[in-house]
Order: sequence, then C-alpha cells, then structure tokens
Amino acid sequence: MRQPVMAANWKMNKTSKEALEFVKEFKSGLSKGNKNNAEIVICASFTSLPCLQLELKGSGIGLGGQNIFYEKEGAYTGEVSALMIKEFCEYVILGHSERRHALGEKNEIVSKKTRTALAEDLKVIFCVGETLNERESNITWKIIEEQLRKGFNGIDKEQALNIIIAYEPVWAIGTGKTATPKQAEEAHSFIRKLIAEIFDEDYSEKTRILYGGSVKPENVKELMSQPNIDGALVGGASMNPESFLRIVNY
Ligand code: 13P
Repeated sequence: MRQPVMAANWKMNKTSKEALEFVKEFKSGLSKGNKNNAEIVICASFTSLPCLQLELKGSGIGLGGQNIFYEKEGAYTGEVSALMIKEFCEYVILGHSERRHALGEKNEIVSKKTRTALAEDLKVIFCVGETLNERESNITWKIIEEQLRKGFNGIDKEQALNIIIAYEPVWAIGTGKTATPKQAEEAHSFIRKLIAEIFDEDYSEKTRILYGGSVKPENVKELMSQPNIDGALVGGASMNPESFLRIVNY
C-alpha cells in the first residue's frame, strides 16, 4: 500500500506573510484530522522557505522548493543551489511544465538538476506530461517516455527511491479542464510499467505517481479511486487553506 501524497505547488504566489497566514490556518484545520494519512508537502517560493520551516516544525507537514540550479556552487548570478534550499526544506519540484515550456528547460537540464538534488538528499517531485498538441498528434506516450528515460539517466534505483513522479498533462494545468480519471489512470499505468522497465517491479510498486492539472475538492476523490493514482500535485486549489484541506481529506 503506497501512502498518498498531497502536494501544494504555490508557483510564484504568496509573500512570506501570506504563506505564514496560510500555514497557521491550514495547521489548525489539519489538527482535526488527516483521514487518509496523507504525506503533505507545501512547495513555496524560495523567499518563504525560512519562515515556513519554523512555522511547520513538528507539524509533520513537509516543505519543498520549486527549482534549483544543477551546479553545486559558483558564478551563476541569481541561481539557487540544492545545498541552499536543503537548509530549509526536504523536497523540490523539478521538470514542471511551466519551466519546460515557458522557460525552455530541456530533458537534459531536468536530468542534471535531478541528479544534483538527489545527491544532496532532497526528495524530488519529478514532473512529466504532454501538451495538447502532442496529445492530439498521438505522441503522448513517446513524450512521457522520453521525459522519464532522459530525466532518470544516470540515476540508480537507490537514489530514485527518493523521487515522486507527477503526471501533469499541460492542457489540464490552470485551465479548469481536468483529465478524466480514465485518461489519468491510463497515463499513470503507462508510467508505472515504464519505470518497472527502467528499474524493476519493486521500484515500480513503491513509487508514488501523483496527478496534477486542475485538481479540486470536487474531483479529487474520483481521481484518487484509480489504482495507479497515489496523490495530487495541486496548483490553484492549494492556495486556499480550506480548499487544500478538503483535498487532503478527500
Ligand atoms: P492547477 O492545479 O492550477 O491546474 O496547477 C497544477 C500544477 O501545475 C501543479 O504543479
């Protein structure tokens, strides 16, 4: 039985003051129960990590960043390293479609970042997913396979056990248009078979695969009823404590 993971991706939203207000309210709601025993992770902007680390101490809620640079240190003005975020949090989102498509991050870059993050013992939420154009051109499986094979290149099974995969079809992100539970399950089952090929059955059985793309309190239960969906990576609906609590307690 895989423990469900409910992860919030706040993207470029919330000042540290707003992030703290959220967490205070969220913690008080969560004290009434986490009925699915979900692993909960909040991925916030770099600037909020220090104060959130203090506020989340002892709460059991995990904290994550949303990016790192792939080099360990050096003359890379404006970049933030794995070692730097590790002072404050234990997770990091990598390969998000907004970075792949709006910021031009190729599979090779995502792969380098993943290796660097894992080497620093960060847990990686590794995102994959096809665009609408790719889905309509019937190359969804090819795209996901490339993202996973290239992204996991040079990573051994032991390290890869610190990866949580997130399937986020680009056409479902921020659009209000969720993949149907059947479409999502089809992709998750494809991913599970593929990671069994890349590593082995044991790895594939243990690895959590989250769905992301317009997850809301209203659709999370049906998505979570699918055998290969182990959690959600939530953007818009994670911004409000009450709505994220309803998702966590689906
Ligand atoms: P939305 O939930 O706003 O569609 O965003 C999904 C996402 O990109 C999470 O990483």
